[in-house]
Amino acid sequence: MKEKSEDLKRRVNEALQGGGEKRIEAQHAKGKLTARERIDLLVDAGSFQELGQLVTHRSSNFGLDKTKFYGDGVVTGYGKVHGRLVYVFSQDFTVIGGSLAEAHAEKICKIMDLAMKNGAPVLGLNDSGGARIQEGVVSLGGYADIFYRNTRASGVIPQISAVMGPCAGGAVYSPALTDFILMVEDTSYMFVTGPNVVKTVTHEEVTSEELGGASAHSVKSGVTQFSCKNDVDAIEHVKRLLSYMPQNCEEKAARLPYEAGNEQRETLNDIIPDAPNQPYDIREVIEEVADEATFFEVHKNFADNIVVGFARLAGRSIGIVANQPAVLAGVLDIKCSVKAARFVRFCDAFNIPLLVFEDVPGFLPGTDQEWNAIISNGAKLLYAFSEATVPRITVITRKAYGGAYDVMNSKHIGADLNFAWPGAEIAVMGAKGAAEIIFRKEINGAADPAAMLVEKEKEYADLFANPYNAAARGYVDEVIEPASTREKLMAGFESLENKVENLPRKKHGNIPL
Ligand code: HXC
Repeated sequence: MKEKSEDLKRRVNEALQGGGEKRIEAQHAKGKLTARERIDLLVDAGSFQELGQLVTHRSSNFGLDKTKFYGDGVVTGYGKVHGRLVYVFSQDFTVIGGSLAEAHAEKICKIMDLAMKNGAPVLGLNDSGGARIQEGVVSLGGYADIFYRNTRASGVIPQISAVMGPCAGGAVYSPALTDFILMVEDTSYMFVTGPNVVKTVTHEEVTSEELGGASAHSVKSGVTQFSCKNDVDAIEHVKRLLSYMPQNCEEKAARLPYEAGNEQRETLNDIIPDAPNQPYDIREVIEEVADEATFFEVHKNFADNIVVGFARLAGRSIGIVANQPAVLAGVLDIKCSVKAARFVRFCDAFNIPLLVFEDVPGFLPGTDQEWNAIISNGAKLLYAFSEATVPRITVITRKAYGGAYDVMNSKHIGADLNFAWPGAEIAVMGAKGAAEIIFRKEINGAADPAAMLVEKEKEYADLFANPYNAAARGYVDEVIEPASTREKLMAGFESLENKVENLPRKKHGNIPL
């Protein structure tokens, strides 16, 4: 008996060594932590329970039988983050490059299955050379087993992927199927085909970092929502992100205690510039309205003509979607529509109420937008808002023009409460453009066309460049003083706390992809 337990201890110790001291040093030399160090940072001290530590690969192809590593290149188990249950897998690059094959995949699938049964998030720390070449098709099968579970778990439990090393080929599709991807700058990359294949096929010369590093994916492709400085920063981001989410789709996110005080925010009264085309930073509005220092921006570096992120309002977790007048005048285009639609759908799936700040001049015109399908992509945002059943409130801070008025969580597509600031302009288009179209004859026929345009522009603006027509029809519930926005929103979300709304019975909708 004693011999057996000594043997077990020895084997466990070996397992904990991962690929050995030299390989751990090599990992550190690259500026990366090991799989276990990452888990230690992620979970509450002493809470991690490892599963499958003694699992090994079964293949003997190409000498694989000569070296077996306990754990097969991935550490899996469960633990707690801020006291809440999470399931974790952390790929160990020091063991056969963290490559994924039969046993490695089975371990990941096991914790995904447990997470589904127990209604808790899955956190994947990815650092892998991809499919283990020596094991052939079982490696590919292993990936597909994970993809299948990622899809089945989507909308049931939150899934977060931190990419902390290589992630190439079909391997990228597991993170892509999860809710959020974080990447570490300089040490991680994601691509379907690497620089060598790119060079052969398209003759482009590009480094791994240029092709699929954190910067490329946070700024250009939008594949990753967070670009993190290093492993520690990435783990901190994962923990903060989790704090805004419930454990699963049946729960609400935990509310933090909040004691009401003076909720007036006087600076909001002066935040809108005098000239209608002058920009301001919508983040300043968000920071004023949200509980102090709680705004956590998502997808910060991508399509920044719209701002999305989590925040707290009187301790409640909320999702914010806001046009950004400081970038492209806050216009809706393809990228920002997709960015916002995905965020709205996450919030709706996990019962996180939505707050929209609207200041939008319309959709971006041009051949680039039309030929790249602004129609289908803009429709994604419209669809996402229309199907959302969580509490939804909109505040129109300035412009709400054209189709974009409808799309940005208007009353007509199911918003619960719609507020407007007194300077809001809710109209088919801006006054100048409108006057040029509907008064063309008068303007062209006038002795002084320029003066006539100004006159007609004013006429139009007096009638439509305000929130009162919309309020008279009940499309806007109340025209509010900007300083009282936070108070109004606190009361509004409080009143929607028990909102119940069900979609018509269906298998699933068909969002325009
Ligand atoms: C088996 C692998 C491996 C793999 C790395 N290793 N990737 N072993 N299968 N996929 C091993 C290496 O042989 C090496 O073992 C050790 O891991 C560390 O790798 P290095 O090359 O020394 O590390 P580094 O220089 O940092 O380079 C990392 C790397 C490179 C860029 C990821 O290893 C690499 O290009 N690997 C192959 C990547 C790949 O083509 N994977 C398949 C992708 S296709 P030793 O014993 O020498 O130290 C795919 C399909 C998925 O994944 C399909 C799903 C549908």
